[in-house]
Amino acid sequence: MYESDGLWRQVDAYLVETLVDEDAALAQAREDGALTTMPRAEVAPNQGKLLALLAQMTGATRVLEFGTLAGYSTIWLARAVGEHGRVTTLELQEQNAAVARANLERARVSERVDIIVGPAADSARRLIDADTEPYDFVFIDADKPSNPEYLKASVALSHPGTVIVIDNVVRDGAVVDPDSTDARVQGVRAVLGDIADDPRLEATALQTVGSKGWDGFTLVRRIR
Ligand code: DHB
Ligand code: MG
Repeated sequence: MYESDGLWRQVDAYLVETLVDEDAALAQAREDGALTTMPRAEVAPNQGKLLALLAQMTGATRVLEFGTLAGYSTIWLARAVGEHGRVTTLELQEQNAAVARANLERARVSERVDIIVGPAADSARRLIDADTEPYDFVFIDADKPSNPEYLKASVALSHPGTVIVIDNVVRDGAVVDPDSTDARVQGVRAVLGDIADDPRLEATALQTVGSKGWDGFTLVRRIR
């Protein structure tokens, strides 16, 4: 907790109230985060809308997501791609997938979403082996130690122009510690290094404060 935490929350509440339409299905999906193995890990409403806007700006019709939980960001992305778009979302836990299925139904986007249950690296490997048509937009928001593996799979499943967003890259500032013993921090540092070293990828990262505390995301574009 930080001294400004309360104000960050108030500002987020104001921005969301002013600009972000969260219907009953989205609100329920957000609340259902409590029924998953990782309560409160879903993106904030204004972050969900950012993902939707980015997907639409990219003209994305094919979206890949690592980490479904209750399906909150999945709904934002599924609505963004429209009724002819597809979202494939990878979730480790059947418990979470069951919660997500109900939320996707309520949001009326089930028909455009495939939830694949199991370790995301294995699921992604099967998509690669099946020569799956490349995705236009990828959201990586699952277990952080696996970020480097998820990036590699995402690039294998991408085309020049694909946009990749990686959540939670700041973690209360912990990202700056090269000696961190937190495997999640090391997962973030490793993936940022991999992005920097890959000539196919252009990227930036932003710190964020708000209802989710102090964190941030990386925005990546495959350029060749
Ligand atoms: C954690 C993961 C998330 O995706 C998130 O948004 C917040 C926290 C976590 O691993 O603690
Ligand atoms: Mg996250």
